[in-house]
Amino acid sequence: MSHTRTVAVLVGSLRQDSASRKIAKAFADQAPDSLEFRFVEIGDLPHYDPDLETDTPPESWTRFRQEVASADAVLFVTPEYNRSVPGFLKNAIDVGSRPWGKAVWTDKPTLIVSTSAGALGGFGANHQLRQMVSFFNMPILGQPEVYIGNSLSLFDEAGTLVSETTAEFLRTVSEAFAGFVERNAPAVRREAA
Ligand code: FNR
Repeated sequence: MSHTRTVAVLVGSLRQDSASRKIAKAFADQAPDSLEFRFVEIGDLPHYDPDLETDTPPESWTRFRQEVASADAVLFVTPEYNRSVPGFLKNAIDVGSRPWGKAVWTDKPTLIVSTSAGALGGFGANHQLRQMVSFFNMPILGQPEVYIGNSLSLFDEAGTLVSETTAEFLRTVSEAFAGFVERNAPAVRREAA
């Protein structure tokens, strides 16, 4: 019997009109009911500095770690910046990786969605992110791969997804991801430190 799985959503763009955030929302809106999506703020995390890793780390670090730790799975939706991920997304991954031995990412199934205003769909960012999360033993949905190109042309002025091809593709991916999460979610959710 399947039950609801929670998915922490990390968006790699801070800008208000971000196509990546719209894609993340469109994905969550039409995904199977077995998945519950929780958007996790990452723009407010101070740069990772081991000297701040005291008994009282920055509040936003603690909040962030708890939100990811309490989820069953992780969805990344990120644009490509200079053939990699935006720096603040890398910082979020670093913050979630410490204290040593208590990484909040460990074993959580993940889907990596890369986006680009250009035609290539953020392939470089997508694969750099795969390299990072594989370090945490995170199972990554292998198929379908998700590279969303021409991202700015997919929405109307109200922010509604107008590309029926993309909508259909996101439906297919979300169904695959729901099954993948069900097969790979750790039995017990971990508590953050
Ligand atoms: C970009 N952009 C970009 N696009 C791409 O396909 N490959 C790249 O390497 C880069 N590099 C890059 C660096 C920086 C600093 C910026 C600001 C932008 C363009 C990018 O695809 C475009 O700005 C997207 O619209 C960003 O996604 P959001 O903010 O709409 O989600």
